[in-house]
Amino acid sequence: MSETETKHQIHLLPHDLVFIASEQETILEAALNAGVAFPNRCQVGACAMCMCQKVSGEISYQLEPMLTEKEQAQGWVFTCQAVAQSDVVLQLD
Ligand code: FES
Repeated sequence: MSETETKHQIHLLPHDLVFIASEQETILEAALNAGVAFPNRCQVGACAMCMCQKVSGEISYQLEPMLTEKEQAQGWVFTCQAVAQSDVVLQLD
């Protein structure tokens, strides 16, 4: 792993929280490290507690989650598996 971590800003709606995520951690890990009480349980992409909707930005997955095409089209993201590839805006319900 390189020393230079690329970092992105994650903007979490509707609470209007902002935290920084590097490309070496999942968005969920970054949120928890930043003290954001992000819903989660399994952290392995199985329980769907951490799901939220992407408003904008690019993410990639460590492990491709089980999402239907409709869910993907609606922007649902498993944050415990997702790594930010750009600044991202997420909507948490
Ligand atoms: S924490 Fe269980 S799916 Fe993400």
